[in-house]
Amino acid sequence: MPLPRRLSRELAAHDGEAVRIAGHLEEYRALGGVAFALVRDGSGTTQVTLKKGATDPAMFAALEGLARESVVEVEGTVARSERSRRGVELLPSRLTVVTPAEVPLPLGVVDKVGADLDTRLNHRVLDLRKPAVRAVFELRTAVLAGFRRAFLDRGFLEVETPKILRQGAEGGSTLFSVDYFGTRAYLAQSPQLYKQMLIGAGFERVFEIAPVFRAEPSDTVRHLTEIGMLDAEVGYVDDPEELRGLLEGIVADTVAASRADLERRGNPLAARLPEAKTPFPRVPFARAEAWLGRPGAGRDLSTEEERAVAERAERELGSPWFFLTDFPSAIKAQTFYARRQEADPSLTYYFDLYGGTLEIASGGLREHRVDRLRANMERAGVSPAAFEGYLEAFRFGMPPHGGWGLGIDRLVQALAGLPNIREARLFPRDRYRLDP
Ligand code: 4AD
Repeated sequence: MPLPRRLSRELAAHDGEAVRIAGHLEEYRALGGVAFALVRDGSGTTQVTLKKGATDPAMFAALEGLARESVVEVEGTVARSERSRRGVELLPSRLTVVTPAEVPLPLGVVDKVGADLDTRLNHRVLDLRKPAVRAVFELRTAVLAGFRRAFLDRGFLEVETPKILRQGAEGGSTLFSVDYFGTRAYLAQSPQLYKQMLIGAGFERVFEIAPVFRAEPSDTVRHLTEIGMLDAEVGYVDDPEELRGLLEGIVADTVAASRADLERRGNPLAARLPEAKTPFPRVPFARAEAWLGRPGAGRDLSTEEERAVAERAERELGSPWFFLTDFPSAIKAQTFYARRQEADPSLTYYFDLYGGTLEIASGGLREHRVDRLRANMERAGVSPAAFEGYLEAFRFGMPPHGGWGLGIDRLVQALAGLPNIREARLFPRDRYRLDP
């Protein structure tokens, strides 16, 4: 019977026991009579201590000749040790080299000098072995679990909508086309039309966590071409405040649950997460334009303007989270599903949610009356005939509804304080990157 495999983080509870560990050989250092091998697994690093006279000399020789990052298995006895980081060390009785690593490593895992992001992403598997990089994906896991819990607690159904479509929803210029058995199809930019159709199906509240695709040629620190999107749609809402209340509650619960989860794991990002205290401030778009000194310009914010507005909001309103509300209809003309305000049709019921200096989510009430929806499409230069399947959902009884789309990569970027969105995805896709 092989000994049970233990993770590094579990060893302190097994003092004096014979165990087996396995992981990547991070480092081997021989200092006269003793030598130390650091073995890293998914939970941390274990110090294996070899002692001349006590340890089989063949083990010193095997480790001496072994490349860093090889996978090894070590059996031995756990012993208390003041000097090791975890307070315990492993006194080895048996070493197996499972798979040796090649030399040289294209990217060091424990090097003090940081590599540039391109090199890191080119050799992402090695990059992901760094505990600080792995920590981001523990955060991402916590965020996704937190969202699922928050949605399920509020009575949402989790749905999965098609990603291969005949038509896009968010403007033609960012569509990727694919050859679909000789006809042209597109990769979904958003579950937008389908989540609305499910409200027509009487599902009341739906959410989806799935990738979407945007042929986004801009090469920035906040744009990707494959994005993790969290979409939600809610039926029988007539007031955008109800939507904003739901969204901020879900975000606040998710941030709190993520912080608790990371604290349990001892993940240092726990201390970084910005406080998400509800209600988040509301900033009407017109007020943001006044801050920028361009009232009534009627165009969307540039990246620099977004940042300026976010900094001003944080300074004046004391929150890194805030809603930019009441987007002008002129800006949302292409967003044909956006509903105009009854009292002032020059404004929509649309809003963005900011976290840090990033736009994290965008949403609002949708147009649920089919004649007005068709008119919006025509104004946007979109042919209603091409959207018959979508429009059918509106022809046989559609409740008033609304929802939002939240960029998970942007949210993780904001929560972890990452300078570049690419660091928030395992294997990011952008204008120039298709590998690995
Ligand atoms: O603002 P967007 O395009 O809105 C929609 O997709 C609507 N269907 C949402 C709705 O329900 N009305 O995208 C939503 C969010 C943005 O706020 C941003 O966080 C993220 O998705 N996002 C991107 N993130 C990274 N790279 C890109 N190219 C992104 N495009 C959008």
